[in-house]
Amino acid sequence: MEYKVLENGSKMPLLGFGVFQVKEKGAAKKGVINAIKAGYRLIDTAASYGNEEEVGEGIELAISSGLVKREELFITSKMWVSDVSREHAEKAIQGSLKRLKLDYLDLYLIHQPYNDVFAAWRAMEKAYQVGQLKAIGVSNFSIDQLTNLAEFNKIKPMVNQIEVNPFEQQNLAAKYFDDYGVQVEAWAPFAEGRNNLFSNKTLQKIADKYDKSIAQIVLRWISQRGIVVLSKTTKPDRMEQNLNVLNFFLSEDEMNTITSLDMQTSQFFDHKDPEVIKWMATRRIDY
Ligand SMILES: NC(=O)c1ccc[n+]([C@@H]2O[C@H](COP(=O)([O-])OP(=O)(O)OC[C@H]3O[C@@H](n4cnc5c(N)ncnc54)[C@H](OP(=O)(O)O)[C@@H]3O)[C@@H](O)[C@H]2O)c1
Repeated sequence: MEYKVLENGSKMPLLGFGVFQVKEKGAAKKGVINAIKAGYRLIDTAASYGNEEEVGEGIELAISSGLVKREELFITSKMWVSDVSREHAEKAIQGSLKRLKLDYLDLYLIHQPYNDVFAAWRAMEKAYQVGQLKAIGVSNFSIDQLTNLAEFNKIKPMVNQIEVNPFEQQNLAAKYFDDYGVQVEAWAPFAEGRNNLFSNKTLQKIADKYDKSIAQIVLRWISQRGIVVLSKTTKPDRMEQNLNVLNFFLSEDEMNTITSLDMQTSQFFDHKDPEVIKWMATRRIDY
C-alpha cells in the first residue's frame, strides 16, 4: 500500500474501502473482514450509513483473529447534518466511537457542508486535541466553504472527501485543496456505474492496453493524481482487483485522454441546490 501524509503527519492509505449502501444484515461486517483480508487498511463509513456497529464488529473480529493490528488500520466516520450543531456534535463523535467500539478514529469528517459547521468543528477540534480523533476534515465542501472554515478556526481541515470520477473530475478544486494543504479523498470513483462508466470506450481502450479493467484504470488515474480513493464492492474478487492498481503507470497522454471525459457535473446532485439542502435538513438518523 502507498500512503499520503496529512498536514498533521498522519499517514493515510492511498486506496480505501467504503461501505455506503451496504445495508443487508451481516454484509458490512463480512465486507470489512473480506476487505482487510484483501489488504485494505482504510475503511470508510458514516453515521448515516447505518452500519457503524457492523463495521465495528468486523474490525474487532479482524483484530482478534490476528488479521491486522489496530494501529495498521485507518478508520473514518462522519457526522450527519442533524448532529452538526452545538447541542449534538460532541454526542455524535462519542456515538460513532461507541458504535464502532473504538477508542479513537483515524479520521472524522463533517459529512455535508450544512447546519452549524463551526460549532461541530470546535467539538471536533477538542476531540482531536485529546486524541480521540487522530485527524479531522470535511466532506462535500466547496473551495469557499472550506476556506471559510479553515481561516476562522485553529485547526484547518486535513481532508476534504468529494465526488471524483471521470465525469466529475474536480480538477480546479483538487489543485486548490492540494496547494492549500488539504488532502483530497475521492468518493464514487466509478460514479456508481452511472453514465455507462463500465462500458466507456475511451476507458476500455486504455484498459485493454494494460490488460486491466475499466475500474482499475479509473482507480489508477485518480490515485496517480495524488488523490486518496475509496471504492465500494461487496465482492471479494473485485476488492482484490480494485487494490491491484499501484503496479502500473498511465502515460501523460493517457491521463490527458481521461481528462477529456470531464463533464464538470456531479453524477448525483448539486450540493449548492437549495432543494438538496432542504432534503438533507429533513433526513434524521435512527441510532
Ligand atoms: N462523503 C460522501 O458524501 C460520500 C458519498 C458517496 C460515497 N462515499 C464513500 O465512497 C465510497 C465509494 O463510493 P460509492 O460506493 O458511492 O460508489 P463507487 O465506488 O463509485 O461504485 C460502487 C459500485 O461499483 C461497483 N463496482 C465496484 N468495483 C467494481 C469493479 N471492479 N468492476 C465492476 N463494478 C464494480 C459496485 O458493485 P458491487 O458492490 O456489486 O461490486 C457498486 O455498484 C462509498 O462506499 C463511501 O464510503 C462518500
